[in-house]
Amino acid sequence: MKSVFVISLALLLAFVSASGASAVCKCVYPSSCWPSADEFASLATKLSQPLVYPKPPEAACYPANATSVSVDCATVTEHYYNGNWRADQSGAMQGPNFEMYIQLNSSGQGTLEACYLNSSLGIPCEQGNVPVIGVDARTVGDIQEAVNFATLHNLKVVIKNTGHDFVGRSTAKGSFLIWTHNMKNITYDDAFSPLGAPANETYNAITLGAGVQWHEAYDAANEHGALLVGGLVPGGSVGAAGGWLMGGGHSALSPSYGLGSVDNVLQFSVVTSTGESLTVSSYSHPDLFWALRGGGGGTFGVVTSATYRTHPSVPAATAILTANATDNAVLAKLLSEYIRRSPTWSDQGWGGYGTVFDGTLEMLHVAPNVSLAAANASYSSFFEFAQSLVAEGLNLQTTVTLSYPTYYDWYQTYYNTSEQDQETGTTVLLGSRLMTREVIESNYTTLGQWMVEDFVWSQLVLIAGGAVNRTDPDAMGLNPAWRTALAEVLTAMSWPDTDNVTEIQSAKGTLKEMVSALDSLNPGSGAYLNEDYLEDNWQHTFFGSHYPRLKAIKATYDPMALFVVRNGVDSEDWDADLICPV
Ligand SMILES: Cc1cc2nc3c(=O)[nH]c(=O)nc-3n(C[C@H](O)[C@H](O)[C@H](O)COP(=O)(O)OP(=O)(O)OC[C@H]3O[C@@H](n4cnc5c(N)ncnc54)[C@H](O)[C@@H]3O)c2cc1C
Ligand SMILES: *[C@@H]1O[C@H](CO)[C@@H](O)[C@H](O)[C@H]1NC(C)=O
Ligand SMILES: *[C@@H]1O[C@H](CO)[C@@H](O)[C@H](O)[C@H]1NC(C)=O
Ligand SMILES: *[C@@H]1O[C@H](CO)[C@@H](O)[C@H](O)[C@H]1NC(C)=O
Ligand SMILES: *[C@@H]1O[C@H](CO)[C@@H](O)[C@H](O)[C@H]1NC(C)=O
Ligand SMILES: *[C@@H]1O[C@H](CO)[C@@H](O)[C@H](O)[C@H]1NC(C)=O
Ligand SMILES: *[C@@H]1O[C@H](CO)[C@@H](O)[C@H](O)[C@H]1NC(C)=O
Ligand SMILES: *[C@@H]1O[C@H](CO)[C@@H](O)[C@H](O)[C@H]1NC(C)=O
Ligand SMILES: *[C@@H]1O[C@H](CO)[C@@H](O)[C@H](O)[C@H]1NC(C)=O
Ligand SMILES: *[C@@H]1O[C@H](CO)[C@@H](O)[C@H](O)[C@H]1NC(C)=O
Ligand SMILES: *[C@@H]1O[C@H](CO)[C@@H](O)[C@H](O)[C@H]1NC(C)=O
Ligand SMILES: *[C@@H]1O[C@H](CO)[C@@H](O)[C@H](O)[C@H]1NC(C)=O
Ligand SMILES: *[C@@H]1O[C@H](CO)[C@@H](O)[C@H](O)[C@H]1NC(C)=O
Repeated sequence: MKSVFVISLALLLAFVSASGASAVCKCVYPSSCWPSADEFASLATKLSQPLVYPKPPEAACYPANATSVSVDCATVTEHYYNGNWRADQSGAMQGPNFEMYIQLNSSGQGTLEACYLNSSLGIPCEQGNVPVIGVDARTVGDIQEAVNFATLHNLKVVIKNTGHDFVGRSTAKGSFLIWTHNMKNITYDDAFSPLGAPANETYNAITLGAGVQWHEAYDAANEHGALLVGGLVPGGSVGAAGGWLMGGGHSALSPSYGLGSVDNVLQFSVVTSTGESLTVSSYSHPDLFWALRGGGGGTFGVVTSATYRTHPSVPAATAILTANATDNAVLAKLLSEYIRRSPTWSDQGWGGYGTVFDGTLEMLHVAPNVSLAAANASYSSFFEFAQSLVAEGLNLQTTVTLSYPTYYDWYQTYYNTSEQDQETGTTVLLGSRLMTREVIESNYTTLGQWMVEDFVWSQLVLIAGGAVNRTDPDAMGLNPAWRTALAEVLTAMSWPDTDNVTEIQSAKGTLKEMVSALDSLNPGSGAYLNEDYLEDNWQHTFFGSHYPRLKAIKATYDPMALFVVRNGVDSEDWDADLICPV
């Protein structure tokens, strides 16, 4: 049931300045400032759906907690690694490590509140970082009501879409959740005109509600014979209009068509912290449009929809290599050669992933509108090089090029995976650097050795150069480091559920050392804000020279600092839990 906007903007602003919201701590559960049951009941009457009470889904496996969740333990265990199932749970993150809360003390030790799937560890199930109550938004009005309620009560707010965030920015202890996952509208328009654009400026475009995920967006685009530049995740569970896009949004298609934020997004609808719903394009609130393209999710307002330009559907070619070796030096030779060749592949429109773990290299590359003959010409000498290493002990499992009638067919072949194979549900922290073409061209040997010999898991993500490099770096908020980058190098750390806080902190220390090594190849270089957890100088690393302007735009559209996330614009003005100003 909808009702009118009860609190006027003037009243709101008066409240904020009277209580000095920007100078006081945000209200978190279970403080005495937390709204009463009656106040929440009153909010509920203004929403299209009942309020949600998120719980870590693993609670189903604990006798003391099982009744607090609507699923049973067998169901949770069955779907635990399914990114789409996890996204359907208001209380789940994709990585269970983000559901936990760690309280550190001055000696770097501390306590941990978690709810592990394994209930035999002897650790009680606790709420941790999972929000305590929230709005299951279905309409722009629901979002406005949620924002106004949060502002009125000065609540610690999180915006959550799929919970895929690798920085844990879509969850927070004691917070009020704005859950966009069920905003699933999709509309296609072959003559879309951004608000404020001249009448003759039209595009083939698709408008995605805030909760649409990539598998849904790709299916919808395909029905219109269109190609979309989007994220590639087994099961397609990453959000298509949330943090992926606002952080930059890379795709294996990016060397050909740019990032999500670059040539592809045309317009956003956004509810700002004042409760207003704005349509934002190059012509309407261009400053906010500039900031939303790369300035990061959870920072400038709640995006309710995003409109993407689509491209004509084209055939796609793929190149695959899988090899392993017991001798790391042999695998490092192969990987170094792979890295050395990546600038040429990017120039030819190829993108994709080279993943190294457990003595194995798995390469999956794709190029739009490239023939099989052209694919062979691009990869045959690399495959021959790999063949030459067999004499040194390389186990060359697969080298193949294939073609598909459409890019969508390629996507279905490699990314419509079974639910046990969706790369989610495990404890992972990422560290990374964007690598310039110069570093790739001069340091491929070193990089190959580090990735194979020193990193437990690593990936060369070939998603830049080409079209990413052909846009004016200052045309949007995105980190200018993307424009000189050719690829991203990722590394990761994980730890078992039996680890205590000291051991977890030590794992984070190892991650930091690996990232420092990557950084040393090009000191002070940039990183992709969606795929790098630990960063001291994050303003520079994630935003570069665009930081001051992003901060000014943030102050214009979120003067009350309702939306603050870890390592996000303006977060330096808040304490570690982003609750009290510093
Ligand atoms: C398995 C896996 C594969 C991935 N593959 C890719 C890839 O191919 N390319 C790539 O670029 N990245 C990839 N990522 C990283 C991805 O971009 C980030 O995890 C991103 O944060 C996900 O956005 P989300 O909206 O789905 O997630 P969420 O965790 O729900 O949100 C992420 C951030 O965006 C904010 N946010 C979400 N929705 C909104 C909204 N409507 N308005 C305002 N703020 C919002 C949240 O507050 C949070 O800060 C991958 C991640 C995973 C886990
Ligand atoms: C920090 O926490 C650890 C583990 O909980 C505890 O043993 C230690 O005494 C604490 N140190 C300080 C300085 O509080
Ligand atoms: C759960 O934890 C117990 C106790 O540490 C351990 O014996 C058991 O193997 C774990 N189960 C799983 C499935 O990991
Ligand atoms: C699980 O139950 C215990 C005991 O009642 C309680 O202390 C804890 O907060 C509950 N956990 C969650 C996630 O609700
Ligand atoms: C979704 O589409 C339906 C049908 O066109 C429309 O009534 C509704 O308002 C849309 N919802 C949002 C949030 O745009
Ligand atoms: C739109 O019309 C203007 C004025 O006639 C012209 O300058 C511009 O190039 C046109 N733009 C497009 C995209 O056709
Ligand atoms: C490669 O991996 C397979 C298992 O996938 C293993 O049987 C084989 O021994 C490995 N070979 C080398 C050379 O490491
Ligand atoms: C695909 O490639 C062909 C031949 O090179 C070219 O003519 C065509 O314009 C390309 N199509 C697209 C959509 O890029
Ligand atoms: C390309 O290489 C594949 C093997 O990877 C081979 O089967 C195919 O015949 C080649 N096609 C062309 C057109 O060269
Ligand atoms: C994805 O895979 C599932 C299970 O194999 C299948 O039922 C479904 O049709 C596939 N989807 C598409 C779009 O091909
Ligand atoms: C990277 O390459 C540059 C230029 O060749 C070289 O000076 C530098 O020593 C290399 N760094 C490492 C760590 O190999
Ligand atoms: C970007 O383009 C410039 C100018 O064409 C070129 O010199 C540079 O090597 C390109 N960088 C990458 C990463 O492709
Ligand atoms: C954490 O675990 C390590 C290794 O088991 C142990 O040496 C250390 O004492 C533990 N630390 C705390 C604070 O319990």
